[in-house]
Amino acid sequence: MNLHERIDDRLRQFVERQHVFFVATAPLAADGHVNVSPRGLPGTFAVLDDHTFAWLDATGSGSETVAHLRENGRVTVMFCAFDGAPNIVRFHGVGRVVTRHDDGYPALAGRFADVPGARAVVVVDVERVSDSCGWGVPLMSYEGERDLLGPFFARKGEAGQEEYRRRKNATSIDGLPAFDAAPAPRAAVGDAE
Ligand SMILES: Cc1cc2nc3c(=O)[nH]c(=O)nc-3n(C[C@H](O)[C@H](O)[C@H](O)COP(=O)(O)O)c2cc1C
Repeated sequence: MNLHERIDDRLRQFVERQHVFFVATAPLAADGHVNVSPRGLPGTFAVLDDHTFAWLDATGSGSETVAHLRENGRVTVMFCAFDGAPNIVRFHGVGRVVTRHDDGYPALAGRFADVPGARAVVVVDVERVSDSCGWGVPLMSYEGERDLLGPFFARKGEAGQEEYRRRKNATSIDGLPAFDAAPAPRAAVGDAE
């Protein structure tokens, strides 16, 4: 295992080339459910600088990652080489969720592909960068995308996506608040309580 000071060009090129990565998060509760989810639709991951990366998060059948990030921010992502030279890269860090209802969303989302059903951008400050040999990861070849998720949400339209998130993304399996489908309007600065 090698530790790195930062996400250098070699690491950046490696992770941005991968078709899938794995996101691990956990709630604080000792008996809470630890989660791992795949991510990596085309054009949805980017290294922003030496210590920051982000991904565009599409609406999904659950919302564990968002719930855990909102509660405690801890996150690890893992990339594996399935072809070419062996490698496994992990970024440990602290993530925040910028949802489609937040002010900073359009600027961040503009960096990524236009994914139907996009619900948030997750921005992660990386605290630990490591890689390891990857000798045990099998060689596999990439055949292509399934082209199911995008069309599924495109067919639903904006209102259908909202309704889906309200039903499926409101809480984690432990009951933590996850995606706010309709956040209360924020009080303007100076408003009475
Ligand atoms: C390549 C790839 C990309 C995915 N992207 C997302 C995504 O952006 N958002 C999402 O909720 N689920 C995505 N999924 C499916 C989820 O991993 C999963 O089924 C579920 O929605 C997990 O979301 P959660 O971690 O918030 O619970 C993706 C799966 C694959 C294989």
